[in-house]
Amino acid sequence: MTQKHEPHSLKGDEKARYVAGMFARISGRYDLLNTVMTGGMHHHWRKLTAQLATKGLEGNALDIATGTGDLAFALLKQKGVLSTVGVDFVAEMVSIATIKAKQRHLSRETLFLQGDALQLPFKDDSFICATSAFSMRNVSDIPKAVSEMRRVVQPNGRVVVLEITPFKKGGVFPRLFRFYFHKLVPIIGRLLTGDAEAYTYLPRSVDLFPNADLFASIMKEAGLKNVQHRKVGFGALAIHIGEKLV
Ligand SMILES: C[S@@+](CC[C@H](N)C(=O)[O-])C[C@H]1O[C@@H](n2cnc3c(N)ncnc32)[C@H](O)[C@@H]1O
Repeated sequence: MTQKHEPHSLKGDEKARYVAGMFARISGRYDLLNTVMTGGMHHHWRKLTAQLATKGLEGNALDIATGTGDLAFALLKQKGVLSTVGVDFVAEMVSIATIKAKQRHLSRETLFLQGDALQLPFKDDSFICATSAFSMRNVSDIPKAVSEMRRVVQPNGRVVVLEITPFKKGGVFPRLFRFYFHKLVPIIGRLLTGDAEAYTYLPRSVDLFPNADLFASIMKEAGLKNVQHRKVGFGALAIHIGEKLV
C-alpha cells in the first residue's frame, strides 16, 4: 500500500522500476508537457547549462538520463562540441531522442543509448563534460550518479547538473511556485498525458531533493572541485557546476 500512495519515497531498485515505468508511459507527451509547464523556458535553461558545461573545452559531450535528448541537442550547438552521447534507461525515451536526431539531420553527431546512469557504459576520462537536466531527482542513488559523471569526464572537464531546487525560505514567489507546482502541474499533467500520478510524483520529488548547498556537498564528496551553482527561473532551479581537476 505504501508503495502505491507514496511513490516519491521509494528507494533503490523499487524507485528505479517505478521511475522507468512512469517515464515510459509519458514519453510520447514529455516534450509537450515540458514546454507547457515552463512556458518554453526550459530551452533557455538547457542552453545556459550547455554553455556552462562546454565553455573553453573541445571534444565529445555526454548527457545522462537524457530523456528525449533536448540537452544533448543543446550541447551539440556549442562551440567545441564535436559529438554528443545521450544515455537513458527507458527505451521509449531513447527511441524518441533518436527519431528527433534523424529529423534534425544530426544522426552522425549524436548517439542515443539505453543505459544506466548509475553504471555508465563508458571508460574513464571519455568526455569533456557530463550533464544532466531534471534527472537527479529521479535517480535512485544521487552520489553514485554524480560520481559516475565525474569518472567518465576527462581531467579539466566539467560535471553540470540542472535541477529544480527547493527554496530556502518562505516568501511570495516560493508560495506561488509551490501552489503552481503542487496544485496546477498535476492537473495540467493529467489533462495532457492522462497520467495524474506521474505529475503528482514530480512536485513531491522536489520536496525530497537536497537544497543547493547540500547538493554542492555531494558534488565535493564525489571529488569535484570549484563547485558552484547558478540559480535560474527566479530561484526555482539551480545549475550546479563542478570540475574534475587531477
Ligand atoms: C525528468 S526526465 C529528464 C529528461 C531529460 N534529461 C530532460 O532534460 O528533459 C528524467 C529522465 O531520467 C531517466 N532516468 C532516471 N533514472 C535513470 C537511470 N538510473 N539511468 C538512466 N536514466 C535514468 C528517466 O528515464 C527520464 O527519462
